[in-house]
Amino acid sequence: MDRGRSARGLFGLSGRRVLVTGGTRGLGEQIVRLLAAEGARVATCARTAEDLDVLRKSLASPGSGQLFTRALDVTAPERLEGFVAAAARRFGGLDGVVASAGGSRGRGLERTDAADWAATWELNVGHTARLVRAAVPPLRTAGGGSVVVVSSISGWKPGPDAQYGSAKAAQIHLAASLARELGPDGIRVNAVSPGSMLVPGRRWDRMRTREPEAFAAFVRTELPGGGPVAPQEVARVVAFLLSDASSGISGANLPVDRAQNAPSPDGY
Ligand SMILES: NC(=O)c1ccc[n+]([C@@H]2O[C@H](COP(=O)([O-])OP(=O)(O)OC[C@H]3O[C@@H](n4cnc5c(N)ncnc54)[C@H](OP(=O)(O)O)[C@@H]3O)[C@@H](O)[C@H]2O)c1
Repeated sequence: MDRGRSARGLFGLSGRRVLVTGGTRGLGEQIVRLLAAEGARVATCARTAEDLDVLRKSLASPGSGQLFTRALDVTAPERLEGFVAAAARRFGGLDGVVASAGGSRGRGLERTDAADWAATWELNVGHTARLVRAAVPPLRTAGGGSVVVVSSISGWKPGPDAQYGSAKAAQIHLAASLARELGPDGIRVNAVSPGSMLVPGRRWDRMRTREPEAFAAFVRTELPGGGPVAPQEVARVVAFLLSDASSGISGANLPVDRAQNAPSPDGY
């Protein structure tokens, strides 16, 4: 379905209504910024209200798309469902949803307890399933739409930590299964799997500054593209999957990793 393109932006997303979880840092922030620059109306959430304020103020320039934010934990089902409903009310429907909030609890098998496993699965898999479930009615009302699930190359390339990799594998499966289930409603569902992303102040950036030799060795052995991908590069693939240009793609998993080998230098 073509809901009209705009001269603005690369992806023709002007006026589209998109909800993104985890939009204040890293990949989620870059997705929100790109969609706003495209002229989309964007709803996003994170746990830290101050970070949402900073994001809102930084995007409050004339010409950027409308932004709706709410502080919440995506693993609290009623809060997440309430946010999806509020965003759909505010925008008069939804055209796209991105499950970007994610992460890992615990470290290594023996330092990862039952609560860490459950928290990691809730954050990555449980939140994604509930988000899509809550978004189906407004997407259906809009005549269909696009769902993007942010997984990871850890979903099929083994590396520590198993609770994280197995949850990311489950997200890829979820995207493929839901694509079939929701296809008749005109709803496409795809996974995007970043390789190691260079997020300022986060794991790979810290390693680059604090352990330059180990970082160089990691790049040499595991990153044939010469370095980690930037979140902005991954955000562009997410925007493509939200756009009509990808209308033929559903149930897919798109790696954005420049042929990265292992997801971590640690090995097992
Ligand atoms: N970084 C990488 O190298 C990498 C590689 C492959 C895949 N990924 C995947 O890419 C996605 C984004 O990763 P990232 O590294 O960019 O993330 P990040 O820098 O850790 O940012 C995560 C975002 O999600 C929010 N968030 C985290 N937990 C939340 C919760 N329980 N409820 C609501 N919001 C929550 C955070 O804000 P608050 O803390 O304020 O809640 C923040 O806005 C994740 O799914 C991750 O698994 C990352």
